[in-house]
Amino acid sequence: MQKLLIKGKKELSGSISISGSKNATLPILAAAILANDVKLLNVPLVKDIFTMLDLLKFIGIKVKVENNKRIIHLQKEKQINTLAPYKLVKTMRAGVLVLGPLLTKYKKAKVSLPGGCSIGTRPVDLHLFALKKLGAKIKIKDGYIIAEAKKGLIGTKIKFPTISVGATENALLAAFGAKGKTTLNNCAIEPEILDLIIFLKKLGCKIEITGRKITLIRNNNKNKKKINHKVIFDRIEAGTYLVAGALIGKKIVIKQINPKILKCEIDILKKMGAKIFKTKNSISILKTSRLKTIKVSTKAYPGFPTDLQAQLMVLMTQAEGISKIKENIFENRFMHVPELKRMGAKIEIRKQTAFISGPSKLTGAEVMATDLRASVSLVLAGLIADNRTVINRIYHLDRGYEQLENKLKNCKAQIKRV
Ligand code: UD1
Repeated sequence: MQKLLIKGKKELSGSISISGSKNATLPILAAAILANDVKLLNVPLVKDIFTMLDLLKFIGIKVKVENNKRIIHLQKEKQINTLAPYKLVKTMRAGVLVLGPLLTKYKKAKVSLPGGCSIGTRPVDLHLFALKKLGAKIKIKDGYIIAEAKKGLIGTKIKFPTISVGATENALLAAFGAKGKTTLNNCAIEPEILDLIIFLKKLGCKIEITGRKITLIRNNNKNKKKINHKVIFDRIEAGTYLVAGALIGKKIVIKQINPKILKCEIDILKKMGAKIFKTKNSISILKTSRLKTIKVSTKAYPGFPTDLQAQLMVLMTQAEGISKIKENIFENRFMHVPELKRMGAKIEIRKQTAFISGPSKLTGAEVMATDLRASVSLVLAGLIADNRTVINRIYHLDRGYEQLENKLKNCKAQIKRV
């Protein structure tokens, strides 16, 4: 099994080009079920994307990947399969996003319930709630969601009881083909969802957004034309390298981004004392000699993302005094804490809040990655730790970070995969 070895305390300098967003690409790939011919650019070639492509191939979509250009071509085959089997959905929850488009286009779908997840229970009740409101008949049998809408889905008004990224996406994908107008209230409005909306508009759907309300009017065209779409940058990858810069950057330039989308992250890093300079499409970041403490709560966008909680916590270990992070989105997302503590961090968890005392001297250790973002927090900790850090189970990292070691190596980090 592969491991990452990091020799810490090496100042970082150089530039990092941010990849396309994994979390934007996944729902757009599911949306390809609604199209005939799609060319996607700026696709991050990470494990989760290949898992989704395997699912699309099973469903009946021809996939061609131009590896060196990060382009994917998707073409619908004549024969479509409305089944998404367990073996292709169990490793990645986003597989459940094919439910909405299959149901709306083919009036039926059988999709495996996604498997458990280490960061929380992560049910799909809100996805099903929205589809039922659109007129789907749904039953759960033998671990599968069996959905049917014999006469097609019908537009309606839906108000989500709580904000969910995946449920908003599945509802949008289903409402795309529903008769008449659909209004979704209390939606997630993450930049990745806005990217999906841009894609659906290219397919001909009329969509308006006001605050957390999204209105869609069905597209009656046959979607014959070819759709080209460039995926938005990965704001979580950008945020991760911003934290690296604040921790140990002589100067890192984060490129191919839109700093406006990272407003919350930039404000927090500035409050903690990091030196940040923005241009229209890049951010330069330098560490400071004295980091200040801060209190942060994870929230839906435009709030601070849960996907950057573990990374920010590493920065907090270097601030003078006690910082706090309250995790509001997932109930079990502090699994990086025991590993960071083994490296010398002083962190106490009370209910959903982590209290981080700093500054702590971190020392290299052999640690275990538990999920995607937890793993990358261990990489960040390794970069500032004395001696050598060994990170096991790095397949978690490969699910979502493209070329992680190369990007860091280009900034002079001492990191290698063995
Ligand atoms: C997406 C992101 C993930 C991110 C999360 C929150 C992708 C592929 N993944 O995950 O990286 O951490 O948003 O920003 O884009 N919930 C329910 N019922 C449901 C659905 C969700 O109770 O039917 C709960 C979840 O358990 C969680 C909360 O709602 O507590 C938010 O989850 P959600 O926004 O749906 O996250 P995902 O779409 O799974």
